[in-house]
Amino acid sequence: MILKSIISCFICLTILFAEAKPPKPTILVTGGGGYIGSHTIVELLNDSYSIVVLDNLSNCYAFNATEKPESLKRVEKLTNKNVVFNNIDIRDEKSLDKVFKTYKIGAVIHFAALKSVSESTRKPVEYYDNNVAGTNTLIQAMQNNKVKKLIYSSSATVYGNPQYLPLTENHPTGQNITNPYGRSKYFTEEILKDLSYADSQWKIILLRYFNPVGAHPSGLIGEDPTGIPNNLMPYLSQVAIGRRDHLKIFGSDYPTPDGTGVRDFIHIIDLASGHLRALKKLMDPEFRGCKAYNLGTGKGYSVLDLVKTFEKVSGRRINYQITDRRRGDLATVYADPNLAEKELKWRAERYIEQMCEDTWRWQMQNPNGYHTDEEESN
Ligand code: NAD
Ligand code: UD1
Repeated sequence: MILKSIISCFICLTILFAEAKPPKPTILVTGGGGYIGSHTIVELLNDSYSIVVLDNLSNCYAFNATEKPESLKRVEKLTNKNVVFNNIDIRDEKSLDKVFKTYKIGAVIHFAALKSVSESTRKPVEYYDNNVAGTNTLIQAMQNNKVKKLIYSSSATVYGNPQYLPLTENHPTGQNITNPYGRSKYFTEEILKDLSYADSQWKIILLRYFNPVGAHPSGLIGEDPTGIPNNLMPYLSQVAIGRRDHLKIFGSDYPTPDGTGVRDFIHIIDLASGHLRALKKLMDPEFRGCKAYNLGTGKGYSVLDLVKTFEKVSGRRINYQITDRRRGDLATVYADPNLAEKELKWRAERYIEQMCEDTWRWQMQNPNGYHTDEEESN
């Protein structure tokens, strides 16, 4: 009898161990307190990855410097999981090294960057220091600690003025980029390509985002720009909620169906799930080198399309005024997303209505973003 029990116990344990999957690696997320980082972390936690975040709080709200950013507290609430947070600048070599020595990091997703196009024209050196030199310091720390898997947040801006549409990944990059922010993304891509040529152990994926918009459908996390928004969607939603008087539409004389600019808006949850697929690719033993993928929907919508859809879903009238073109703006930009579909098995699924609905829910539930005090966020 006892022998029978021992044997059946042994069989059960063998089956259990055979079925148990190895734990997923810990992912270091730089800039994880920000808009795209926080949404991506939700998807990663839901897929059982452990997360270590580093962020210097330069563009995300925390009650004080020793606390987690509010975005990450809400991520924890949403997922019922813990996020390890370190208030560290990616240019701080010693602190980075300590992070790699403390946690067993399997791969890095690198979001941390300054991202305001207009600010970059006023402070180019700061942008190159943060975005280019910062990435260089990060990859040195990775190299020293033998962590050689990286996903880099790039942008459609690296294509400059499109020579053809839709934009494929082999469209020339680095030509006619109109601002230092865009060039900082291009230069960093080039550094990462050189690194992968020099050392074949590196596995790098460059994700070229088109225009990320929207928020988590819970309304708990979303985009929380500091000061006056530069980008269309956050400005639009602040007009809808009454925080801004009217939207300025920059130009109505573009060679587009209604004369306003056309962009490939992509829902933030689709963008976040693109990172999961990229991570899977990075973990594939067959994957080698440095490869770029577009993350877009492949469809272009005009500024006026977005305004009308937002009016429809919110039931609010959006006051707008047509003004001159904004310097450096392009007429039409949209992706060819087929490479990501073929190789990452990823495709954007959410439509423009959902992008507006989720933005509006986030805006209504959080009229001042993550701040509780209106003055601080304006
Ligand atoms: P975000 O500003 O919301 O998030 C970036 C985070 O990085 C912030 O929390 C900020 O505090 C942190 N950070 C900045 N510099 C840092 C440094 N030196 N050390 C540590 N932390 C630092 O921006 P986002 O919209 O989430 O963008 C994330 C990435 O995606 C950026 O690299 C951006 O260039 C790229 N990108 C964004 C868009 C977009 O429309 N949002 C489009 C294309 C590419
Ligand atoms: C901009 C940046 C790009 C960056 C991206 C995300 C430029 C040239 N490009 O893209 O590098 O990766 O943001 O941060 O700045 N618009 C208005 N009124 C507004 C704001 C925007 O009409 O108040 C229009 C613009 O003219 C454009 C469209 O809306 O036609 C989208 O603008 P925006 O959201 O700023 O994104 P991009 O310019 O595409």
